[in-house]
Amino acid sequence: MTWLITGGAGYIGAHVVRSMTGAGERVVALDDLSAGVPGRLPADVPLVRGSSLDGATLKRVLAEHEVTGVLHLAARKQVAESVAQPTRYYRENVGGLATLLDAVAEAGVRRFVFSSSAAVYGDPRVDLITEDTPCAPVNPYGETKLAGEWLVRAAGRAHGIATACLRYFNVAGAAAPELADTGVFNIVPMVFDRLTRDEAPRVFGDDYPTPDGTCVRDYIHVADLAEAHLAAARRLSDGDAAGDLTMNIGRGEGVSVRELITAIGEVTGDKRAPLVEPRRPGDAPRAVASAARARELLGWSARRSVHEMVDSAWRGWRLHQARNTTEHQ
Ligand SMILES: NC(=O)c1ccc[n+]([C@@H]2O[C@H](COP(=O)([O-])OP(=O)(O)OC[C@H]3O[C@@H](n4cnc5c(N)ncnc54)[C@H](O)[C@@H]3O)[C@@H](O)[C@H]2O)c1
Repeated sequence: MTWLITGGAGYIGAHVVRSMTGAGERVVALDDLSAGVPGRLPADVPLVRGSSLDGATLKRVLAEHEVTGVLHLAARKQVAESVAQPTRYYRENVGGLATLLDAVAEAGVRRFVFSSSAAVYGDPRVDLITEDTPCAPVNPYGETKLAGEWLVRAAGRAHGIATACLRYFNVAGAAAPELADTGVFNIVPMVFDRLTRDEAPRVFGDDYPTPDGTCVRDYIHVADLAEAHLAAARRLSDGDAAGDLTMNIGRGEGVSVRELITAIGEVTGDKRAPLVEPRRPGDAPRAVASAARARELLGWSARRSVHEMVDSAWRGWRLHQARNTTEHQ
């Protein structure tokens, strides 16, 4: 079996490559390198530079590498950018997926895992989000993930492909410093960025209906998330997994922004008080997964703590900072 991992040079994709190869699976990565870093991949993993929008390249890769399963992570992922450029997000995230699914169906590939997101739920106002909680995304990014799930399931039914849609919650941490998330789009790197600039972290709103007034999220270590992909890939290979497996990938535990900033202070030693700023439009007060279905269907559950996420992310951040400083000298 060979697995094609699209977005394999990305933050999460590189971790998935590592989990899969570590478990003895053969993989090939495809990435257009718009955000990916080839150096995140082990030297013995082939990397094809190409886009999910390029059907001819996809067909060639599937045939040349005798691909039997796909883990599709390649996508644009910035919410604010999706609000400003919705057509680009639909074209790349949904259009790219359609092109890939055509190639997959034609090549006779029968296993497909799709990177979905908690963004499909929008702002559901429930204590724990289950997979039966209605999906109502509140931005074009979340819409492309929900439309992507519909497309994956429809193509699965039409072509006899066993599919899984993994709805990731808030991803953080790194399995090794060189695999860390270098973009400043999620809360952990955003706080690191402020501290590195000698500025206090910012909290957007402390008057939400939550225990300490700040937003509550479900943070998952990227190494746990990568292991969930391995478990899903193996489950789809069982033979009795026809149909679709859609599930949340989270820890099932809420952590407030204040609690996370406290954990970051403990790791970095910089415990300055955060600045409280007005709420940002579109931030849900609480988004915490029920992790029961993944446990039941995959026998998978997250093992790593918030401290491990912050600590490993901080090591990665410092390595990245040191490399940037050397480059600019
Ligand atoms: N990071 C998170 O917190 C999070 C949460 C939920 C879901 N996701 C999803 O997980 C997936 C991976 O996210 P990430 O955080 O690793 O982002 P990332 O930007 O680091 O990785 C995405 C990778 O895909 C590549 N890529 C983008 N468009 C492509 C295309 N059309 N063809 C080929 N390659 C392309 C990029 O170069 C990049 O290497 C995405 O689908 C994202 O929507 C991420």
